[in-house]
Amino acid sequence: MKTVVKGRNQVKVANLSELPVEIGKKVIVNGKAIALFKLANGKVRATANSCPHKQGPLAEGIVSGDHVFCPLHDRKISLEDGLVQKPDFGCVKTYEVTVMGDDIYIRLRD
Ligand code: FES
Repeated sequence: MKTVVKGRNQVKVANLSELPVEIGKKVIVNGKAIALFKLANGKVRATANSCPHKQGPLAEGIVSGDHVFCPLHDRKISLEDGLVQKPDFGCVKTYEVTVMGDDIYIRLRD
């Protein structure tokens, strides 16, 4: 997808209408793989598409509430703050998401 810059560090990454509920979608932005998730409550979350354990592709994980379970070894990761839930540990990078109409933007921090 062609990226569209909207404001400071905000990049359009997808259309809301093309994002299925609770099914992750991988997008590539500036060479980085990012996982998008539309939660059952309608909120959209974005994380790096790489589990902090052994780089499992989080977009292929099972979404439950505001968490995703990594498809490789089932670690439970918060889509709010990226924290791996106990008893495991670690953190995946999250991105601020803005939805305007049907457009989903994320804010790149670096
Ligand atoms: S790679 Fe995600 S739990 Fe191991």
